Amino acid sequence: MFSIIQTKANTHSRRIRQSETRPAVEGKKLSHPSNRGPLVFADTAVIDDIRPLYKAGIISGVTTNPSLIKKAGATNWAEAVDIAKELIKLVTPNPVLLELTELTEDAMIKQAVEFSAWGGNVVIKVPVGGYQAVDQSYDTYTGLKVIRSLWAKDIKCAATLVFNSTQALWAANAGAMFVAPFLGRLGDYAYANDNPEKQPGNSLYCIEDHKNANNDQNVFNTEYVACGGARKDIGPRLIQEISAIFTNYDINTQILAASFRNFAQLSECALAGVDILTIPANILNDVCDHPLTSLGMESFFEDSKVFVD
Ligand code: E4P
Repeated sequence: MFSIIQTKANTHSRRIRQSETRPAVEGKKLSHPSNRGPLVFADTAVIDDIRPLYKAGIISGVTTNPSLIKKAGATNWAEAVDIAKELIKLVTPNPVLLELTELTEDAMIKQAVEFSAWGGNVVIKVPVGGYQAVDQSYDTYTGLKVIRSLWAKDIKCAATLVFNSTQALWAANAGAMFVAPFLGRLGDYAYANDNPEKQPGNSLYCIEDHKNANNDQNVFNTEYVACGGARKDIGPRLIQEISAIFTNYDINTQILAASFRNFAQLSECALAGVDILTIPANILNDVCDHPLTSLGMESFFEDSKVFVD
């Protein structure tokens, strides 16, 4: 289990400075018991998966990316736009996060304005970095510049592909309303790339390894996140680190935990102080179940037969 670097009181003080997630409804006597609880979004673009979850009040938003839209069946731009518009309509007024596909500043801003015109509930996903991985000639600050411009235009955006707290802080300072740490991919990377003879997470924090003759070190995450415990806890440790930094500076950017691999990670993120959990449909299907719940139900059902006349 990852160790807690911030106190429960700190997490609480951050949450109560933010808007209620389930505000009181006029005329209702019972206020909602979880009016500060994390929101749940569906991390899928498959309408048939989303509709029943939305109607049942289980989700209150949707996150997509180009891979998810493709997986939902889009084979060209027109089909992708149709899926996006259907999602926007289905969950209005709740948020639908749409990722930009353009990669240069002006084109991204133009595309963000176009997406925003599709509905008042659209939130634009902007990759925080990685532009030079696509093309060396691209500007490394493209994401931050776009986030800053969208904030200036009153367009809500989410910084996506966040893997360390530096990226989260820079995105928040640029004006991102949400940051999306990908905890599953972080763990996947560490499992695939760690040197098994060293501490878990060493591929993200190579304190002993030098990448060149100048002894420059590959340090991609803090030691706390990368090597501060079990490899499987890297994701929740990152959430906790971002939450601690945002608390330090009273930053209201929402932490939207993404890239889940199992439902135990949902609790770990809640312990770490997450604001929103975006969950793939296959994991959402499991959240109510537990082997002992099933056994309990079977025995209660069996015993209740005696009451049937
Ligand atoms: C959500 O915003 C992300 O795009 C998504 O969670 C990525 O998940 P993956 O790592 O399973 O692709």
